[in-house]
Amino acid sequence: MKTPKKVNLANIPTPLEIVKYQNKKFLMKRDDLTGCELSGNKVRKLEYIIADAIKNKADIIFTCGGEQSNHARATTIAARKFGMPVKLFLWGSDRKIPGGNLFLNKMYGAEILYLNKNDYEKVNDIMQYQREKLLRKNINAYVIPEGGSTATGIFGYFSFIMELMKQIDLRKIKGIVTASGSGGTSAGILAAISYLNLDVQIVAVNVLYSKEVITKKILTLAEALNLEYDLNTKIKSENLLVLDGYSEEGYKNISEDKIKLIRSFAAETGILFDPAYTGKAFVAYQENYLSRNLGMKYIFVHTGGLFGVFGREKEYLI
Ligand SMILES: Cc1ncc(COP(=O)(O)O)c(C=O)c1O
Repeated sequence: MKTPKKVNLANIPTPLEIVKYQNKKFLMKRDDLTGCELSGNKVRKLEYIIADAIKNKADIIFTCGGEQSNHARATTIAARKFGMPVKLFLWGSDRKIPGGNLFLNKMYGAEILYLNKNDYEKVNDIMQYQREKLLRKNINAYVIPEGGSTATGIFGYFSFIMELMKQIDLRKIKGIVTASGSGGTSAGILAAISYLNLDVQIVAVNVLYSKEVITKKILTLAEALNLEYDLNTKIKSENLLVLDGYSEEGYKNISEDKIKLIRSFAAETGILFDPAYTGKAFVAYQENYLSRNLGMKYIFVHTGGLFGVFGREKEYLI
């Protein structure tokens, strides 16, 4: 097996905690604690991506996402740490008073191009076009696709399993539950579980794409990692379970009943979920596992996203 180079950005290992909610205990892997402003699941991916950008002599980093993208914010901060400027291609519009992740992107000096929904569908072409334009001026832009989900980036979630193995006997665990946006987090975990030939289910709660699309994305990414880093393994597609139907209000929205659960959970445990990813994933976890007393068999991964709460105070305080 080959291992990509990395830079150190994340405070790892993150804790594996036993959390008690409504008299039921469950395991939570606290990847929201990979850092402070540079926090959440994206930091693990960025450790490998930034190392690759440095290897490729990048002059500037391009990436994309929604206007409250955690990935865009984490990329901006990581790139700035290594002295690289950043241009973000965001689905949304500028705000007089930007909140949450958008505020931080401005704070850290990212250049931002806002795209409407239609244009955002072509964001990869737009980033490539702008890259070519800069290349003519001898400026090398390193393009990171949505969510940092490349074979190199998701190696961060392959390593995550190696870390988790030291914290718990994974042979005693039935499943690992995460929110799934671009699919890279679930894909890295799936590749590692396949490599180790463990019988652990990868439960992906899709918040952005349809079940069919995200299933394909996760399997394609896991296979890309397998090939790129010579894992020589058979990806256990049968271990992937996509839990659908927990983001029917849309990626940028969250229903009142989910907010109520987030608030009750925060008040009881001191742990806050975000509206786009972890809040929805936890509702799925609660319904399918925690309510059936399976919390010590299924690990819930808190993937971060705290800044997505800010700017949505009105909704949270219903
Ligand atoms: C807080 C949070 N959780 C989960 C995810 C999903 O990760 P992935 O894109 O690797 O599926 C993201 C990605 O944007 C995120 O920001």
